[in-house]
Amino acid sequence: MSIFSRLRRRKQTPSVPADIAVRHHGVPGQRLEVDKWAASEIVLELVKIVGTIPYSLDELMLMTAAFGFHRPATVVDIGTHVGKSARIWYELSRRLEVKATIHTIDLHNPDHPEYADDSLGSFVRGLPVIQHLGDGYIVARSILTDNPAGPVLLYIDGDHRQNTVETELRLVQLITTGCALVHDTFWQPGSPYNHGPHLAVEKLLSTTASAQIIRQPIGLPGMTYIGV
Ligand SMILES: C[S@@+](CC[C@H](N)C(=O)[O-])C[C@H]1O[C@@H](n2cnc3c(N)ncnc32)[C@H](O)[C@@H]1O
Repeated sequence: MSIFSRLRRRKQTPSVPADIAVRHHGVPGQRLEVDKWAASEIVLELVKIVGTIPYSLDELMLMTAAFGFHRPATVVDIGTHVGKSARIWYELSRRLEVKATIHTIDLHNPDHPEYADDSLGSFVRGLPVIQHLGDGYIVARSILTDNPAGPVLLYIDGDHRQNTVETELRLVQLITTGCALVHDTFWQPGSPYNHGPHLAVEKLLSTTASAQIIRQPIGLPGMTYIGV
């Protein structure tokens, strides 16, 4: 059957519930693969809750794909702020029926330019998301050195300086299976954008083999997936 007939057939078929269909069809442990049509349906639901800032549609797709493919038992989210990413992980765990323990960490330092004040974690208030106050690397390292069972999704969106992200990316060594997602990794040579997260990812990749890298090179802010 040609791709066009398959697409036509699919259009006519009543849509499969997104929570079932997004699961990968490939061989577990291999490269990321999801049903993009089903993932798109989930993204439309996410947009109603978190909007498209700071995560554009392509970034929401990558977050949904990474979560749907790895079905993490543990999520470690560095940089809570208002809690949009943490809320995305919670919504994905609910909709995809994944029993994930979701940790989110923030320095909550009033001197930081992105201090969330009373809005810290407002998107996950009352939800089963474990909020930690402290340095992302230190808190995440203690969660991950306890060797949580099952796949891990590490999300890095705290301090975007190259040195900090390089340190946080050392956490990848503590992951046996799963992935890391790094936000704000857009790279435009010659631009004044902060390239810290991009450069930190490049440095990691120059020394460590990864199962798969997926970049979102369309524009700011950008997100990079590192399969483990
Ligand atoms: C861009 S915001 C995160 C946005 C959040 N992920 C969301 O989706 O709503 C960055 C956050 O990282 C926090 N932060 C900065 N440095 C940090 C560090 N070393 N450890 C943990 N959090 C940090 C800041 O306080 C700020 O709230």
